[in-house]
Amino acid sequence: MTDKASARVNRETIDVRTALKRGIGELRNANVPSYTLAAELLLLHVLGRDRAWLYAHPEEVLPGLDAHRFLSLILRRASGEPTQYITGKQEFWGFEFEVTPDVLIPRPETEHVIEVALDRLALREIRAGRKPTLAGDGLEIVDVGTGSGCIAVALAKELPGARVVGTDISEAALAVARRNAARNGFADRIAFLNSSLLGGAGVECELVVSNPPYIGRKEKETLMREVRDHEPELALYGGEEGYEFYAGLIAQASETLKPGGLLVLELGHDSLPAVQPLLDLPHWTNVGVTKDLAGIDRVIAAEKA
Ligand SMILES: C[S@@+](CC[C@H](N)C(=O)[O-])C[C@H]1O[C@@H](n2cnc3c(N)ncnc32)[C@H](O)[C@@H]1O
Repeated sequence: MTDKASARVNRETIDVRTALKRGIGELRNANVPSYTLAAELLLLHVLGRDRAWLYAHPEEVLPGLDAHRFLSLILRRASGEPTQYITGKQEFWGFEFEVTPDVLIPRPETEHVIEVALDRLALREIRAGRKPTLAGDGLEIVDVGTGSGCIAVALAKELPGARVVGTDISEAALAVARRNAARNGFADRIAFLNSSLLGGAGVECELVVSNPPYIGRKEKETLMREVRDHEPELALYGGEEGYEFYAGLIAQASETLKPGGLLVLELGHDSLPAVQPLLDLPHWTNVGVTKDLAGIDRVIAAEKA
C-alpha cells in the first residue's frame, strides 16, 4: 500500500461490514480461492474476535489502525501469501498449530494418517485377543518429516501411554514443532530430532508414520502459487517424479520396526503404483490402502512381517 493510500485509510472511518466487503472484493479480483473465508479470517485475526462477534457487530467502527492493518493483510493474501502464514496458525486434529513459512501448512487429508494408524493399532490388539482400548502404553512411535509436529501431537493426544519421536532435516521446522508440542501440552512425551529419515531415531519402534514430501519437481509449474511460491521446497518435493522419497523411508522403517510393527504413510495423488510394490513380502504383510474424501488413494499401511 502506498503512503498516500495508507494515510487515506487511517483517516477514513470504516465499519466491519464495509471493511469485510472491501476485503472480499480485493481477494475475489485477485482470484484467491475461498476469498470470503480468507477475508473473514484476516479480519478476525486483526480484531482478535470470533465469527459470531463479526456478524453480530456489522456497524462497529474499526479503529483506523485496525482498518489499515486489515487492508495490508488483504494485499498480502491477494499477492498469493497463504492465509495461514499471515495469521500464523492452522487447526489440525482439534488443536491449534503455529505455522510459519518454515513448515508445511497441515492439511485435512493428513488426518487420515492418524485415523489409519489408530485403526490398525486397534486391529492388532483384537487379533492378539486383547481389548482394543488404546492407551498405547509403552509404544514407541516415529513421525518422519514432522514439520509443524501436527502428526506427532495428534498421536501423543490419542495414545497417552506412548512416546513419540519426530524427525526432520529442517532445524527451523523442528523449532516450530517443539513450540507446537509445548503449547498443546505434550513437550514431555515428544522428542524432536534433526536427522534424515529415521536415522538416529535410535529405538526399535512399533509404529512409523510419515507424510513425506511427495510432489514431483516436474509438476512445479502446475502448483497453486500459494504452494509453489510460499511453502518450503523441502516439504514439497520428493524428487523429479515425486515418489523417490518412499524407497529409502520404507527400507529404514523395515530395519527400525519390531516384527508386527506398523508403517503408515501418506501418499501423493499418483504415488500408489510406485509405492505399493515396495511393500511386498517377505518384509511386509497386511498392506491396506485408504482413500481420502475426494476418492484419492491417500494412505498406505503395512505390517512388518
Ligand atoms: C510434507 S512435509 C510434512 C510435514 C508434517 N508432517 C505434516 O504432515 O504437515 C514433509 C517434511 O519432511 C521434511 N523432510 C524432507 N526431507 C527429509 C528427510 N530426508 N528426513 C527427514 N525429514 C525430511 C521436511 O522438512 C518437511 O517438514
